[in-house]
Amino acid sequence: MSFVKYEAQDLIGVITIDREKALNALNSQVLDDLEGVIDAVDYDAIRCLIITGSGKKSFVAGADIAEMAGDNKAEGEEFAKKGNLLFRKIETLPIPVIAAVNGFALGGGCELSMSCDIRLASENALFGQPETGLGITPGFGGTQRLMRRIPVGKAKEMIYACANIKAEEALKWGLVNAVYPADELMPAALKLAGKIAKNAPIAVRNSKAAMNEGIEVTMDEAIGVECKHFGDCFETADQHEGMAAFLEKRKHEPFQNK
Ligand code: CAA
Repeated sequence: MSFVKYEAQDLIGVITIDREKALNALNSQVLDDLEGVIDAVDYDAIRCLIITGSGKKSFVAGADIAEMAGDNKAEGEEFAKKGNLLFRKIETLPIPVIAAVNGFALGGGCELSMSCDIRLASENALFGQPETGLGITPGFGGTQRLMRRIPVGKAKEMIYACANIKAEEALKWGLVNAVYPADELMPAALKLAGKIAKNAPIAVRNSKAAMNEGIEVTMDEAIGVECKHFGDCFETADQHEGMAAFLEKRKHEPFQNK
């Protein structure tokens, strides 16, 4: 039995963390199942992924506290590496990933959402890093990504004080792009994924790589990163078709991912 479901809808893949009884908390098996699903996606055919959680209450309520409670120092570090490597893999996938945050996004759940390119939230979503209240630091990227997603001072407040924020506040800080009534969240995520899927896949992929790589380096280096990804597009059939269609004042043919 897998704790992670996958469904492809045309060009869009929907990944659902499916451990509702434990509010989709991430134990080792959930992490393994998620990695298995991520590895099995056909990245030539699928152009956008959506990650969400089962049920109406929770996206992911964190790493599994029961599983890690007895860990020693080495095991704790190992668990952090396991989650971090997987979330970094998600962050650097060759296609965009949208987190459809349908409830609690605490600890590892907030961290999973932050490894996605875009976060959309339901009105009942709650974001936070409550780890210091458990005697640990965030361990799946929270100490690093939260301050890269929202202002450093707000990230520190959230982590030091376990100050969780509701969807509307997450919107105010730019942690999420939009907030929807619960039953409108997945339609909105699918609509956005559909818009992404229509565009030239190599151009989208190169844009993602340019932004991800560029944000980590100096502006001078970042410009170099952009120039390379920009130049690479000119070797693609989709660039030829996209620009020819514009110049010929016609609609472009569906992009080929070539
Ligand atoms: N780990 C393990 N089990 C969890 C869990 C978690 N993170 N979150 C919820 N569950 C389980 C509960 O133990 C409970 O199980 P039982 O029915 O067997 O008792 C079930 O899910 C339902 O949870 P609650 O009864 O607590 O539901 P609630 O609506 O009263 O409260 C909640 C919801 C506020 C999210 C509460 O469950 C909670 O505080 N969960 C923990 C949140 C948290 O601290 N997350 C951070 C974990 S540490 C981490 O993630 C470290 C890291 O960076 C890697």
